Order: sequence, then C-alpha cells, then structure tokens
Amino acid sequence: MLCEQGQWVKAVNHPKFKEGDMLSGWGGVQQFTLTDGKGFHKINTELADPKVHMSTLGMSGMTAYFGILEVGKIKLGDTVVVSGAAGAVGSVVGQIAKIKGCRVVGIVGGEEKCHYLKEDLGFDEVIDYKSGNLRKNLKKACPEGIDVYFDNVGGYTLDTVLTRINMQARIVICGAISQYNEKVIQGPTNYLSLLVNRATMEGMVFDYAKRYPEAVIQLVQWMNEGKLKSREDVYVGIEHFYETFCRLFSGGKIGKLILNIK
Ligand SMILES: NC(=O)c1ccc[n+]([C@@H]2O[C@H](COP(=O)([O-])OP(=O)(O)OC[C@H]3O[C@@H](n4cnc5c(N)ncnc54)[C@H](OP(=O)(O)O)[C@@H]3O)[C@@H](O)[C@H]2O)c1
Repeated sequence: MLCEQGQWVKAVNHPKFKEGDMLSGWGGVQQFTLTDGKGFHKINTELADPKVHMSTLGMSGMTAYFGILEVGKIKLGDTVVVSGAAGAVGSVVGQIAKIKGCRVVGIVGGEEKCHYLKEDLGFDEVIDYKSGNLRKNLKKACPEGIDVYFDNVGGYTLDTVLTRINMQARIVICGAISQYNEKVIQGPTNYLSLLVNRATMEGMVFDYAKRYPEAVIQLVQWMNEGKLKSREDVYVGIEHFYETFCRLFSGGKIGKLILNIK
C-alpha cells in the first residue's frame, strides 16, 4: 500500500483499505510511505478535520481521556492540577476535568498560555512556572490541597506538587518533558508525601487502546456541544522539521504541534 503523507491512499493492495481512504498511523518524516498497513487505521473525516484526528481524536486526546478518567479517577469537586497545560494532552485533560465538575489549575510557561487557559478554556487558576515562585503560587492556587495531579513534565514541578497533595491523591505519570534531554533523570525527592498521604502514583502508555472508539464518540460529542476545544499549531514544509520539533521543548506553540510536510 502506498500513502502520501497528509493525503489519501494512492495505491492499494490491502484487504482493509481502499484507494482514497485517509489513514492515521506511525510513519516517518517522509512524503511517501510504503506499508503493509500495520499500525495504520482509517479515519472518518466527516467526524472532524484530519488535524483533529491527529490531536484531540488521536494519541494526545486518548492519553488525556483515559489518563484523567481511568488513572486519575477524578470526582466532582476534586482539585485537579495539570502541567504542560496548554499542550496537546494537558489542554484536553483540563477541559475534561472541568466538564466533570472539578476545580482545575494549569501549570504553563508564559503569559499568552495563561491567558488562553483561563479565557478560552475556562481553567479556574493558572500558574506561570517561568515567572514567580512555583511553590508559593501553587499554595495560593490550591488552598485546599491537590486531589489529582496529571504530570506531563516531571522534575522540579512534580517534586513541588508532591508537597501539596491531599490524602488519597492520585498522581498520573503521563510524561516528563523537562527530563527528556537530561543525562541524569531527576526523580522526586518528596516521594514520602505519597506515604504520609496514602497517595498513588501511576504511569500509563497506550493501556486503553482497545477502548479508543468509545473515547472518540464522547470527545466528538463534547466538541459538538461546544464543551471541548481542540487546538492545533500547524507548520508547513519538511524543511522546517528541526525548528518545529524544537518548539516542543521551547514551548513556542499552543495545542497540538503538527508539521505538514508537503
Ligand atoms: N504516556 C503516554 O502515553 C503519552 C502519550 C502522549 C504524550 N505523552 C507525554 O505527555 C507530555 C505532553 O505531551 P504533549 O504532546 O501534550 O506535549 P506538548 O504539551 O504539546 O508540548 C510540550 C510542552 O511541554 C512544555 N515544556 C517543555 N519543556 C519543559 C520543561 N523543561 N519544563 C516544563 N515544561 C516544559 C512546553 O510548554 P510550556 O510553554 O508550558 O513550558 C511545551 O509546549 C509529554 O511529556 C509527552 O512525552 C505521554
């Protein structure tokens, strides 16, 4: 089967797909993919624009949905803190927690992202970790402690959040972007807070893949009802791969970072 990235299936010799299908899957940064179809699935472009299938209806949204609902086990009235909150996963996590009646606090870098979370997505509080004292700001934003922390960044932020958790708190370990480029990973030094508070810390990676279709139905419904917004930051041109990739670490983007390699 031959696919052109960002385009329709061009030529096909496959029982599951036909020419003209739009697929999503794991390809390289390349214009054409010759594949046996493994790791690819057909997307329904009537449900949403293809770029939304790469973000809120793709891996990012699935991770957010099952991470906050199944691992975070949020309940009405919980105080939920999410880091990387203006990113592809974090922004969906925060919005789902709002839909479920939680008080949501986002940790993010920079004023523009703070404004976006509060004004566009309806977060209750935002903390700019790049300015001010994170520990003090967290105390101010979460006067009654933290019930659920969805961690996208690890490192100092995770360690600081641990000092504010409540009894039976749930910490969802989704990612640790502050540590990916470090030679020595900084583990949490405040982990005894888990002991004192009978709290749990749990990781997740693709564990709910069989249930993705049910999440897609729910997420589409929320988007159609205007309760959930999907935002993508799209750059064009394979020649911009390097600078676009670096935006993940500099934070120079909002929502799902996409490179259209045409
Ligand atoms: N477990 C899974 O199955 C799974 C699936 C998908 C993604 N993930 C992980 O989930 C996390 C979020 O993914 P995503 O796709 O939504 O990424 P993203 O939030 O779209 O992009 C990364 C964001 O992280 C923030 N960041 C970068 N360096 C940082 C640092 N040193 N300290 C604090 N924040 C930093 C930046 O935002 P600011 O401007 O706010 O700093 C940046 O925009 C990543 O760690 C990713 O690896 C896990």
